[in-house]
Amino acid sequence: MIIFGASGRVGEMMSAAARSAGWCVFTPAHQECDLEQPGAAADYVLAHPDVGVVVNCAAVSEPDACELDPLKAHLVNALSPGEMALACRHTGARFLHLSTDYVLDSRRAGLKEESARCKPCNIYGMSKLEGEHQVLEALPDSLILRVSWVCGNPHRPAFPESMVLRALRGETCAAIVDKFSLPTHVRDIVSTIFALIDMPGLHGILHLCSSGEPMSWFDIASAALHHAHALGALKELPPVAPQRLINANFFRAQRPVHTAMDSSRLGQLLGYQMPTAEDTIRRAVGGYLQVVGVARRFASGSDGR
Ligand SMILES: NC(=O)c1ccc[n+]([C@@H]2O[C@H](COP(=O)([O-])OP(=O)(O)OC[C@H]3O[C@@H](n4cnc5c(N)ncnc54)[C@H](OP(=O)(O)O)[C@@H]3O)[C@@H](O)[C@H]2O)c1
Repeated sequence: MIIFGASGRVGEMMSAAARSAGWCVFTPAHQECDLEQPGAAADYVLAHPDVGVVVNCAAVSEPDACELDPLKAHLVNALSPGEMALACRHTGARFLHLSTDYVLDSRRAGLKEESARCKPCNIYGMSKLEGEHQVLEALPDSLILRVSWVCGNPHRPAFPESMVLRALRGETCAAIVDKFSLPTHVRDIVSTIFALIDMPGLHGILHLCSSGEPMSWFDIASAALHHAHALGALKELPPVAPQRLINANFFRAQRPVHTAMDSSRLGQLLGYQMPTAEDTIRRAVGGYLQVVGVARRFASGSDGR
């Protein structure tokens, strides 16, 4: 298996899981295969003609970074996935690519199915949408998994984990109340990829995120702190200050408002519903506290701070 982006939040756990499952895994590092260089991704895949599965977890995944460097976003998020898919067409490898809820038209509230209209509002979403098109054009048998608000890699804290970290440090917590999506646990992405590798006829786009109703960042922050408190890591439940997106002038890129995805099609294929958002946040916070050692120290009677 080739895994691009193996040093990232998803790629790191994907490659560790693939190695523990006994796969022979190739993880080209950024320096070895710079996806900003046209041809690099294709060359790497073509140099490994016996590899049966290629997973692309690489991206310029930060919307503000894409806004600052649209060419880089285009090369890494659109052009190189297309090249990977085309190379897989030559080698016969199965290609799985990660995309995002930020490709969706975010003006309408509610859960969005795979057939929902796309209309990204920033460079990140535009480059990822272009990536989806290039992948499916080069290799229609590819599988594209759109994920959202990825959390649960304890070594790379995402939004729920960083809210807990702020609270542990005694810093104030604030979160946006009027932007909605659903979180996705990295472990669920990894287990879904393994399950879908074994369904070779399956292709096209699938939504992969928690089940349940759309949540705001405020809801997620509140749930994360609640779980940290319930686990004994926080003596008191700190308040979360509500913020409005319109006042979030620390963002360079415009943020979409309603991008929560409906993962029921994936649930039907797998034969079980995706975990709820509540469960996703609980696992992400629990895993993070274990790694930073806080829950254990509290359980043994010392707060460690
Ligand atoms: N994180 C989220 O909340 C989220 C939400 C929705 C969708 N997604 C999608 O999920 C996928 C995985 O995201 P992630 O959070 O794991 O991303 P990430 O943590 O930012 O990791 C990105 C990976 O891509 C690599 N990369 C970036 N530019 C590169 C280049 N020019 N050449 C070679 N490698 C390069 C990075 O390597 P270096 O670090 O060495 O540069 C890193 O390994 C992406 O497709 C992303 O769009 C993520």
